[in-house]
Amino acid sequence: MSLIKNVAQQARRTNVVASKASSSGVYPLGGYNENKAQLRRETTAQYYRDHDIHHAAKKDSVRLKAAALLFTGRIPSNIDLIRSAQYLQSELPVRIAHRIKGFRSLPFIVVTNPHILKVMEQYIRSFKVISNFNDGRMVKTQDKVDDFTHLLEILLDEHGSVIDDLTQGFSSCHDHILEIFDGDEEKTHDLVQSFLDKTLTSRLGIRLLAQHHLLLKDQIGQNSKYFIPKRDRIGIVESRWKPAKDIEAIARKIRESWMFHCDNPPRVKLNGHTEAEFPYIPIGVDYILQEVFKNAFRAVIEAHANSARQMPPIDVTIAVNREDFTIRIADRGKGMKSDVIDKIWRYHFTTARGRQGYGGVGDLLSMANSNEKELAGYGIGLPISKAYAEYLGGKLEIKSMSGIGTDVYLTLKHIDPHKGHSFRI
Ligand code: ADP
Ligand code: COI
Repeated sequence: MSLIKNVAQQARRTNVVASKASSSGVYPLGGYNENKAQLRRETTAQYYRDHDIHHAAKKDSVRLKAAALLFTGRIPSNIDLIRSAQYLQSELPVRIAHRIKGFRSLPFIVVTNPHILKVMEQYIRSFKVISNFNDGRMVKTQDKVDDFTHLLEILLDEHGSVIDDLTQGFSSCHDHILEIFDGDEEKTHDLVQSFLDKTLTSRLGIRLLAQHHLLLKDQIGQNSKYFIPKRDRIGIVESRWKPAKDIEAIARKIRESWMFHCDNPPRVKLNGHTEAEFPYIPIGVDYILQEVFKNAFRAVIEAHANSARQMPPIDVTIAVNREDFTIRIADRGKGMKSDVIDKIWRYHFTTARGRQGYGGVGDLLSMANSNEKELAGYGIGLPISKAYAEYLGGKLEIKSMSGIGTDVYLTLKHIDPHKGHSFRI
């Protein structure tokens, strides 16, 4: 029996009730650590001959309108949860199969990179475990839904390092890809960009759907007669999301991280529609804001590190309109020169590394051993944020004045169907 089947059967037998001590490798998807080499051989072989994956990859995925997530009922019920589990049981294998197909389209030398291979293996295993859940039959009972929900929780956890692994993998095989394209940097860049954009946005969709289900489950679990449900949240949708609140919280967190490196990081000042509230899914937008703020803080601190004067604030303007809303983050961090602007949307482009003798934040970050990578250095913040913004039906734009500062504009469409469009997840 193949190891993958074994893993899937094990998951069924144990009804996926293993503890969440996933780091110790004891959960039912285990076996990876103990049998890594064998599993890798099996998985690679499986990857070439698996009919189920091949078949699922031919199906179209059923992307839900974001607004549709609002119609589970103001207070979600068990029926909603069973429907949600059934949708995921049939939808996730299709989406995951598309991802596996994406790996298949990469040059062989790239797929054999250990970091990239690890991610592909994770997708193949997750495909198997989800497809084989409940012997491939749709869940119908509350117990099965609970097991399925627990399985999703484990998988979300297991896939937590996908971005790091792919980043490291593509970074370390850059020269191999370049060789394939006879030293053509543009073609190398296009291959990496199109693979990562597609893989990471599709992954965002998968994770949003899975998280929506988990949060619905939590909500329903709490709907006892002693519990008053939170009326402003349905799964991942906040029905009264207030951008100003998230902006303040994210800015505060990043400012605090910078306090390890700098005595008085810049303040963040909000203006515009600071009181606006509307239904939205904050997970993706929070990620983008975090990346943009990291850059803005770094730019201001780096540009004013040697000045005794107070650092100029980062100004954030919120504009909420009928169809969409825009958040502008404007810093006085001296902006970017045109050779930098040309490359900021590329994966792995960063100016945060290797700045010996510069005396700026690059040095501060390279000396720091704690949260340096949290603040800058991978060169993936902007390209992922742009891809996410577009996936969420919006755009991310940057205007920079060299010597002065940078303005970042994030524009996203509302999900409220009464206001027109709604993107699909
Ligand atoms: P990282 O922050 O890890 O370097 P990003 O993709 O977020 O990766 O940013 C890429 C590069 O773009 C940064 O290294 C920096 O050179 C430039 N950049 C981004 N935002 C700003 C900004 N607000 N001011 C100046 N430079 C910026
Ligand atoms: C991911 O995070 O990469 C996933 O695809 C998670 C999913 C298997 C639940």
